[in-house]
Amino acid sequence: MCYAHRMRPAPSPFAGPIPVLTTGPLVLRAFVARDAAAVEAAVSDVGVAEQTLSIPHPYPRGAAVDFIATTQREWSAGTVATWAVVQRGVDAVVGAVMLRFAWPHRRAEVGYWVARTAWGRGFATEAVRVVLDYGFDVLGLHRVEARRWVGNEASGRVLAKVGLRDEGILRGALVRDGIARDVIISGRLRDDPR
Ligand SMILES: CC(C)(COP(=O)(O)OP(=O)(O)OC[C@H]1O[C@@H](n2cnc3c(N)ncnc32)[C@H](O)[C@@H]1OP(=O)(O)O)[C@@H](O)C(=O)NCCC(=O)NCCS
Repeated sequence: MCYAHRMRPAPSPFAGPIPVLTTGPLVLRAFVARDAAAVEAAVSDVGVAEQTLSIPHPYPRGAAVDFIATTQREWSAGTVATWAVVQRGVDAVVGAVMLRFAWPHRRAEVGYWVARTAWGRGFATEAVRVVLDYGFDVLGLHRVEARRWVGNEASGRVLAKVGLRDEGILRGALVRDGIARDVIISGRLRDDPR
């Protein structure tokens, strides 16, 4: 008797392209080369960059091209999933959401930004919500966590709305621009009430 077909592992989601996720007015899809100008315009804004750990300011010319190529490599390697957030029917990038995986722990860290021109329309909340659903329901994550600077109230609201609870302050935990900053860590477990 042959069990080979039963023993074959499930196909990895990372073997193909990152899945397209749709939600309300938004489509989340892979970044493609033509998005570079929109990415550069959005993240050149100091108000976006300074709230992140790793987006440099000033943003170097051409860095968005490298960023997009990196997102494609990271997805194929199964290390980071990065979605471009576009408005349905418009296909212009308004933001990004990423999951950085720690597979031995079935955990991921979520990160995101939205272009200032699109702030306050619920886009981050909706995009993060659909990515969390994908992470828990399709990828089988056990925990999603987020780190934000103390004082990033908008990000705190987004995280609260998608069910991440603040768990504490990590004093001086992350260095940006040479300064060790206080960080709020928050998390949601798969079995937390939605
Ligand atoms: C954080 C960010 C992604 C939010 O994007 P967005 O699409 O405007 O978010 P939403 O519209 O879904 O929700 C924003 C919430 O923050 C609230 N908010 C915005 N600015 C705020 C402020 N200064 N103080 C308190 N709340 C604020 C809004 O009122 C809204 O909450 P509500 O629905 O309860 O009214 C966007 O501001 C951004 O890109 N910031 C810079 C990058 C960043 O912070 N990334 C996260 C790093 S941890």
